[in-house]
Amino acid sequence: MLNGKKIVLGVSGGIAAYKMPMLVRLLKKSGAEVKVIMTVNAAQFVAPLALAVTSGSEVLTEIFPAASIHNAELNWTQHISLGEWADAFVVAPATCNTLARLATGHCDDMLTAIYLSLRHGKPKLVFPSMDEEMFLAPAVQRNIGQLSGDGCTVFAPEHGELASGLVGMGRLPEPETIVEKIRAALELHGAPQAARKIYTGKKVLITAGATREKIDDVRFISNYASGKMGFALASEAALQGAEVVLVTGKTFLPTPAAVTRIDVESADDMLRAVESHFDTCDVFIAAAAVADYRPAAAAAGKIKKSEAVFDLHLVRTPDILMQCGRRKSPSQLVIGFALEVQNAEDNARGKLAAKNLDLIVLNSADVAGAGFEVDTNIITLIARGGAIEKFPLMTKREAAGKILNRISRFFDED
Ligand code: C5P
Repeated sequence: MLNGKKIVLGVSGGIAAYKMPMLVRLLKKSGAEVKVIMTVNAAQFVAPLALAVTSGSEVLTEIFPAASIHNAELNWTQHISLGEWADAFVVAPATCNTLARLATGHCDDMLTAIYLSLRHGKPKLVFPSMDEEMFLAPAVQRNIGQLSGDGCTVFAPEHGELASGLVGMGRLPEPETIVEKIRAALELHGAPQAARKIYTGKKVLITAGATREKIDDVRFISNYASGKMGFALASEAALQGAEVVLVTGKTFLPTPAAVTRIDVESADDMLRAVESHFDTCDVFIAAAAVADYRPAAAAAGKIKKSEAVFDLHLVRTPDILMQCGRRKSPSQLVIGFALEVQNAEDNARGKLAAKNLDLIVLNSADVAGAGFEVDTNIITLIARGGAIEKFPLMTKREAAGKILNRISRFFDED
């Protein structure tokens, strides 16, 4: 499935590097040619020889061959020829340090040099892997935002056991998953120009799912949203050529192919993740069911129950969509959802104006087959300027197609 594809794999120094010989083996089995580049620190976690043997090729670290600086026979320009050779550039695992070096255009080893010499438009897939706190640190998120803005597809790490013994977001996806992401990216990239959809070259940022607002370490406030509508939008937008960043609350849905997923818990976390990508996106779609209130303070541990009435003091969460509507530049499109029970259309129009949106998607809350958890939806689209389109019951996937189609009609107007 990757027959003849040429892949440069950059390995940096995180514990997940130990999985890379297996990734190389799977890529080779799929028919790809692989050249492995390691940072100096990567060799602390995986033997260069293991990667040389599995890839069948020399593993490079420094820009200039170390053997002998007097030997003119050596290839001094591999950092350029490999950038030209590669059909795709993959960094796995990408550490904080490597993310920072890539984001700032450093060119102090073979990995960073090839990133810069890669031919224009070739897929650049980055798989960060680190401790959760480090991943969520503003500086790291800023670098990820920068890399996404520069055309990289950055895949959020998976949730699970971490090398530190903690459980959280930070795991490198399994090699099989990485192979699938590479395949999907190359397939999208390889689509002939005519077959490319209208979203090629557009960055679409989507929120999905329900947020969780902590009461204490074991309890939270949330809602029934499944994330299905947002995930359908992400999947469809990627198929239509968009670079997609999906910021999602807790959900058990699988990540759609070629979509960068960022898992978050609370409304505050969601706002932070959205802020790090908003300025570089062309389209923002808020499909998440964000909790409107959160406990004023989350208690540490588990609150002990008693017979007394328990008062929980709630405060408002940030309105992510409203903030983005206010902040958007004239070339950006901001789309919201509305779930209304009474005076649905009037309320949706009010929201469109109040949040400075280009389009609002009105869901019917009280109709069978629409709303939370189900696979179908009944939508009405109201655009800035007032034009309204009503659709019958359809799958969320079909509804996603209609919404994206309507949004794309703004591209010509802007
Ligand atoms: O005002 P209301 O909550 O009904 O608006 C719903 C829309 O606003 C949805 O698109 C939802 O994703 C977004 N929203 C948000 N942040 C909030 C509340 C809602 O982005 N705190």
